[in-house]
Amino acid sequence: MEKRTIGILFGGASSEHDVSLMSATSVLENIDREKYDVIMVGITRDGRWMRYTGDVKKLIDHSWEEDSGNLPAFLSPDRSVHGLVTVRDGQMEITRLDAVFPVMHGRFAEDGSMQGLCDLAGIPCVGPGVCSSAICMDKEYTHIVLDAAGIKTSDWFCVRKGEVPSLLDLEVKIAVKLGGFPVFVKPCNAGSSVGVSKVKTSDDLEEAMMLAFQHDQKILIERAMVGKEVEVAVMGNDSPEASVHVGEIVPKLEFYDYNSKYYDDTADLYLPARISDEETQLIRQTAVKAFKALGCRGLARVDFFLLPDGSCVLNEPNTLPGFTKISMYPKLFIDSGLSYPEIIDRLITLAIEAQ
Ligand SMILES: Nc1ncnc2c1ncn2[C@@H]1O[C@H](COP(=O)(O)OP(=O)(O)O)[C@@H](O)[C@H]1O
Ligand SMILES: [Mg+2]
Repeated sequence: MEKRTIGILFGGASSEHDVSLMSATSVLENIDREKYDVIMVGITRDGRWMRYTGDVKKLIDHSWEEDSGNLPAFLSPDRSVHGLVTVRDGQMEITRLDAVFPVMHGRFAEDGSMQGLCDLAGIPCVGPGVCSSAICMDKEYTHIVLDAAGIKTSDWFCVRKGEVPSLLDLEVKIAVKLGGFPVFVKPCNAGSSVGVSKVKTSDDLEEAMMLAFQHDQKILIERAMVGKEVEVAVMGNDSPEASVHVGEIVPKLEFYDYNSKYYDDTADLYLPARISDEETQLIRQTAVKAFKALGCRGLARVDFFLLPDGSCVLNEPNTLPGFTKISMYPKLFIDSGLSYPEIIDRLITLAIEAQ
C-alpha cells in the first residue's frame, strides 16, 4: 500500500496545551512509520504554528519551541493546496497531506475550529466534524442535545457573564433545580478539570464561579452525582462500537482534578470497572446512543456516573480525549485487543473514509 502523509498537530492555544504534548509524544512514538510519513506541526501557547522536524523527546519540556530547524507553517484553506504551507527562506513550500490528526485537546482543537479549517482545506481530520465537535465541547449544548435524545445527565443550569444573578437567587435556583448543595461549577468550554470546583456551601460559590469565569463567558452549575465514575471508548463512523470493557476512576480527593489526571496518583484506575455485566452493557449502549445523538464520528470517550441503583448519568463526551499510552481511550481499546499503533491507524482510516 502506498504510504500516506499525515499531519500531526500538537500543543495549541488551549489550557490543555501540556496535555497535548504528552498525548502527541505517545502518538508520534507509536504511529506506524512504515505506513505513514509524519509531518509534525507544533502550535505554541500563544497560537504560533511551526513545522517541527526535531526529536519527539523535546515536546514534553517545551524545548521543541526553540529548535533551530523550526519553520513558520500553516494549513492552507485552499483546497488545491490540500496540505501544509511551510515558509523556507521566504519561499512557500507545499506538503500535501492525506489526513490531519490534531493530537490536541480543548479550545481551538476539539471545539470545531480545527475541524472547520480542515473542512475548508478538504483534508480528512481525525475525530468528529465541526458541528459535533462544537456541541461536545460546550457543556450547555451537550446537555441540551442529550436531554432531547432522552439520555440522562445531571440536573444543571448555566450562568452567563454579565447576567449573574444575586447570590440569593442562585441559592434558590440551586435548591429548586439541583436539590441543593453540593454542586459542581465548571466553565462550559474547557477540559481536563480546568476551572472545575466542587462547592459544598453557598460561602464558596462566588469563588468557584470566578474561577470558572476565568476560562469561559458561560459556566455550568450541576447537581453533584454520587456514584462510580466510569468511562468507555467509542470508535467508528456509521456503525460505532464501544470498547469491550468500561474503565473506572476512583478519585482519592474530592473529584478527578487536573493533577490527578496527569501528574500524581491521587486517582485509582480500574480496567475493567468493578461493575456488573448488565451495568457494563448499559454504559456501552448508552455511549453509542449518545455518540450517534451528538453526531460523532471517528472517536469519542464517553464519561458517566453509575448510580447505586444501577442507572447511569452521562457526564460528558470527549471528542479528542487524552491519548497517551496510559490514557483511558487507548487503554480501553488495547484491552479490547487492538495495539496502540493499530488504534492510531484505524482512527486515521476512519477520518479518510468519512471524507
Ligand atoms: N455533576 C458532577 N457530579 C460529581 N462529580 C462531578 C460532576 N461534574 C464533574 N465532576 C467531577 O469533576 C471532574 C471534571 O469534570 P468534567 O465535567 O468531566 O470536566 P472536564 O471537561 O474538565 O473533564 C469529573 O471527572 C468528576 O470527577
Ligand atoms: Mg471530564
